Amino acid sequence: MRVVAINGSPKKDGNTALALQTVMKELESEGISTELIHIGNKAVRGCLACGRCAETKNGTCAIPDAANEWIAAMFAADGVLLGSPVYYSGINGTMKSFLDRAFCVAGASGRKMRLKVGAAVVAARRSGASTAVDQLNKYFTIAEMLMPCSSYWNIVHGRAPGEAAGDAEGLQIMRVLGRNMAWLMKLVDFGKGHIPPPPMEDRILTSFIR
Ligand SMILES: Cc1cc2nc3c(=O)[nH]c(=O)nc-3n(C[C@H](O)[C@H](O)[C@H](O)COP(=O)(O)O)c2cc1C
Repeated sequence: MRVVAINGSPKKDGNTALALQTVMKELESEGISTELIHIGNKAVRGCLACGRCAETKNGTCAIPDAANEWIAAMFAADGVLLGSPVYYSGINGTMKSFLDRAFCVAGASGRKMRLKVGAAVVAARRSGASTAVDQLNKYFTIAEMLMPCSSYWNIVHGRAPGEAAGDAEGLQIMRVLGRNMAWLMKLVDFGKGHIPPPPMEDRILTSFIR
């Protein structure tokens, strides 16, 4: 089994990376391979609402940039780990630009993330972290994904790169998350061929207009 981790921070070796790597270490020790993709230092524009992903249903975004590689990596993985720094009480802009596009494509091309395991972590200096965790989890919960939990919300604290290494509680939360994610992934894998997935319904889309 394989987990793809996405780091939205512009800092390759910052606190988000530390949180992600702490989760990944536990996954690896449970026999799950991991890949870390650093997107936060790339130019990623947001969704254009062009609707091409829904027209073509070919699993790609019409904007020709590296996001399509990362989207393909997520679709091919059994689990996804998202990490973002907290910027103004939410996730950072690059991460949001990428996730809006990735999950738009996933939904438009046969619910590609459905029943994969997803976990999200954030790094903050002081506040807004719970909001950012909720924001990341929203991508999982609209995509019928399965979410492992930890012993507290998935947050590490620190300002300068590496400062979160001093957040013993935050790192423990990440270790517990990693082990719980591995266990959930093993359960899902064990069920394959024994317990059929729940039937997928066609989506009903209603808009609240008069
Ligand atoms: C533009 C910007 C906005 C930020 N906003 C917040 C914030 O709302 N709350 C907070 O606690 N920290 C905030 N921070 C601090 C970062 O979340 C913190 O330094 C974090 O550890 C960075 O993670 P990284 O090292 O992975 O980039 C902000 C930092 C930047 C650059």
